[in-house]
Amino acid sequence: MQLRQALHDGLARLEAARLVGVDIDAVRLSAEVLLFHVAHCDRAHLYAHPERELTTDEHQQYEALIARRAAGEPLQYITGHQEFWRMDFCVTPAVLIPRPETEHLVEQTLVLARKFHPEAFADGARGKKLQGDALRLIDVGTGSGAIAVALACELPGAEVAAVDLSPEALDVARQNAQRLGARVQFTVSDVLEAVPEEPTFDFVVSNPPYVGLDEADKVQQVVLQNEPHLALFAGAEGLAVIRRLIPQSHARLKPGGWLLMEIGWSQSEAVKALLVGWHNIHVINDLAGVPRIVAARKTL
Ligand SMILES: C[S@@+](CC[C@H](N)C(=O)[O-])C[C@H]1O[C@@H](n2cnc3c(N)ncnc32)[C@H](O)[C@@H]1O
Repeated sequence: MQLRQALHDGLARLEAARLVGVDIDAVRLSAEVLLFHVAHCDRAHLYAHPERELTTDEHQQYEALIARRAAGEPLQYITGHQEFWRMDFCVTPAVLIPRPETEHLVEQTLVLARKFHPEAFADGARGKKLQGDALRLIDVGTGSGAIAVALACELPGAEVAAVDLSPEALDVARQNAQRLGARVQFTVSDVLEAVPEEPTFDFVVSNPPYVGLDEADKVQQVVLQNEPHLALFAGAEGLAVIRRLIPQSHARLKPGGWLLMEIGWSQSEAVKALLVGWHNIHVINDLAGVPRIVAARKTL
């Protein structure tokens, strides 16, 4: 079968699934990406050579992938890839698919790092590390490793650690760090319990699970049915992990160190109320104007 016909058939199957209520967005993109995936080509090739024949094997693979997408499986779990911070991350159903909103967390961490630790960006940062004085960051609930790997790549002189309760997620994160050339130390930990309670970090950064079991009915079906519930839910109101993360971070941050957390759209006041004794507490909105990040500083 020709590429052109395969694309046409794939699109028709996805449209039909959508019409009967399967939650599939970006139908054309899905059909194209799956075709590129099996035919090892890109959009330019598809439109320059629409008459190219798929092998029988490629055609069968394409049909199988279209069937999975038509059943509602996210494109990223089918291809095994998602872009984050302009890097290609491998994803499996053991990890949350990294979201573009979470890039705000990386961005804000870098803004604060640049302001308070400009040396971490300088070429000489590795020299500082040798003196045992490197900037130290830890990502709590690292999942695919997206945040930790992005920070390690942006701050090559820093020491970046990352923890997750899920060993399966950490396997994916380790693989991503290796593929993307990031030096990150990974540890299985329930919040920060496996990390020594010593004030040694400059930054604790986290996109924790923050959906409340009470609001599970507001979560998109495609997310509920496919993404790990450990990555989504945190008690009745979604604050169970954040409640533990705040004091545990305080104990592990150096004086003047920063905690940055991604939060749910309605949680900013509740989270601010938990930050008793912290300074410079501020909330940063995402591009849609939704409160997305809370940052707070441990007293100097
Ligand atoms: C919302 S996901 C974030 C994943 C990734 N950091 C990202 O932004 O794409 C939350 C992550 O926290 C992990 N997690 C859930 N409960 C945890 C706990 N008590 N301690 C450590 N990690 C936990 C989950 O396994 C999941 O990987």
